[in-house]
Amino acid sequence: MSEQDQKVTIYDWIGGEETLRQIVEAFYPKVQLDPLLSPLFPEDILPIMEKQHLFLTQFLGGPSLYSDQYGHPMMRARHMPFPITPAHAAAWLSCMEQALVEVGLSAEMREVVIQRLSAPAYHFVNTHESN
Ligand code: HEM
Repeated sequence: MSEQDQKVTIYDWIGGEETLRQIVEAFYPKVQLDPLLSPLFPEDILPIMEKQHLFLTQFLGGPSLYSDQYGHPMMRARHMPFPITPAHAAAWLSCMEQALVEVGLSAEMREVVIQRLSAPAYHFVNTHESN
């Protein structure tokens, strides 16, 4: 196979391990400041950051770090204990977009990453009640 035929993963395209670390570190402070999202998350956000780092790595095409440690992700089920409305999904994606800007991803890269994350974000919606 020539080099041109090889598919580059989103993970590699945006800068791999180092970029993923920066995204997660930029993202959670925004979540913690968001009035809709912050009440859902524990004060000690570090374990969630660690898991998100593992998950996003594999979700964007990198090594399967999350599954290696925690088994099948079952992400919708893992989000069921938390009431997630379409507004939460939009807020989550907005924090992510801001994080991607902050770490310096190009507009093209941001669009691809946000598009990849939009499907799960709206898939995790489990209620239309806002309380
Ligand atoms: C739609 C809006 C979303 C909301 C409101 C939300 C909220 C949460 C909350 C409250 C937790 C658990 C905190 C805890 O354990 O106490 C969590 C965990 C997590 N979320 Fe989300 N989330 C959303 C979307 C996403 C998306 C789009 C992804 C990735 C594609 C994602 C990946 C994760 C991961 C990997 C964990 C850790 C799971 C584990 O415990 O192993 N979330 N999320």
